[in-house]
Amino acid sequence: MLVDAKCTFLGFMLFTLINAQRNPTISFISKEKVVNIGDNLELKCQAQDAESYPVAWTKLSPSADQEQVFISKGQSIITPSNRHQILYDDRDSTYTLIIEKIQEIDVGIYRCEITTAVNTKIFADVPVIVRIPPVIADNSTRSVITAVGERVTLKCYASGYPTPMISWRREKNRLLPNQMAFYKGNNLTINHVTKDDRGTYYCVADNGVGQGARRNIGVEVEFPPFVRAGRSLVKQALQYDADLHCHIEAFPSPSIQWYKDGQMINDNQHYQINTFVRTDEFIDTTLRVRRIEKRQFGIYVCLANNKLGTNQTMIELSESVNIVCPPACDVGFYMSAASDHFHHHHQFFLFSSIIIIVAVIVSR
Ligand SMILES: *[C@@H]1O[C@H](CO)[C@@H](O)[C@H](O)[C@H]1NC(C)=O
Ligand SMILES: *[C@@H]1O[C@H](CO)[C@@H](O)[C@H](O)[C@H]1NC(C)=O
Ligand SMILES: *[C@@H]1O[C@H](CO)[C@@H](O)[C@H](O)[C@H]1NC(C)=O
Repeated sequence: MLVDAKCTFLGFMLFTLINAQRNPTISFISKEKVVNIGDNLELKCQAQDAESYPVAWTKLSPSADQEQVFISKGQSIITPSNRHQILYDDRDSTYTLIIEKIQEIDVGIYRCEITTAVNTKIFADVPVIVRIPPVIADNSTRSVITAVGERVTLKCYASGYPTPMISWRREKNRLLPNQMAFYKGNNLTINHVTKDDRGTYYCVADNGVGQGARRNIGVEVEFPPFVRAGRSLVKQALQYDADLHCHIEAFPSPSIQWYKDGQMINDNQHYQINTFVRTDEFIDTTLRVRRIEKRQFGIYVCLANNKLGTNQTMIELSESVNIVCPPACDVGFYMSAASDHFHHHHQFFLFSSIIIIVAVIVSR
């Protein structure tokens, strides 16, 4: 009985000894890795007493379901990839997983795993984080059209790792609604839009990786027309041409009309209307009164109208004894050496008069 018991005890000891010897462990796993796109990466897993068990590298994808993909088993790569290699060093029983030319898809938790029985595994994890330059998200504002007095919020989000910082600037370093040249945050709100708020805004995303990202956001502000005269009094002699200039600021683009005595003016042999669009909001219109007849002197109205309102200005055309150049002199059929001469004499006369007036004032 005693011998038997001793035998059993010894047997038990022997069993636990062998068992202990053969119980695999992971004695080392690489620390968390933060890498750049394009880098090469090495992950090490040192397995003790694992000679007779399969040691695998797997990856848990970062998505919610944490799907586990096998990359290697023992000394062979099983994922279809030419960027992955497995090296085994039998001196320290280390399995080194090499990933070349890191891509964004390589992000995740890498798990070194030893299957010891059908449902028994031991494992150790190493997270791999890839630095990713910022990319401005699609849900960021692209452009807005707003109107004077409204409230508008420009939004900007960006992906990337580390989390990008979002900031705002304006074209030509103009001031933002906070009265500064710079604002930090996702949402830029303009509480009471004015005409001066229109223009290009820059959303800048930066996380220290790469060049950063920028989106140009156009802000269009609708406002009623503002009309002003080039000169509100224009003089010309009978039978010569006169140009009446009118400058308009409006958005959206207004319709423009010229009136005299309540009658709308059309292009014809007496009048010619030219309109120049300088930018989206600035328009110049010129009414040429051709070979002025007596009845064409008087008050003209330049009027602009868009969906937000109407504005107008008056320009008086009055008779002068002198011929005013331009436009008189640069029109083909008036053009002659004589009229050019006249023009120069005229200027000379004006110049001399000023000198005389100045001289008189100084002498007093
Ligand atoms: C915009 O998209 C980004 C990333 O795609 C997301 O993180 C963010 O919550 C979204 N913002 C809004 C307001 O939808
Ligand atoms: C920006 O606006 C969105 C919704 O419009 C809001 O969910 C978010 O909290 C705002 N972000 C900040 C930083 O105020
Ligand atoms: C045109 O607009 C200006 C500025 O808004 C305003 O002062 C002026 O009274 C307006 N004129 C007319 C005739 O509507």
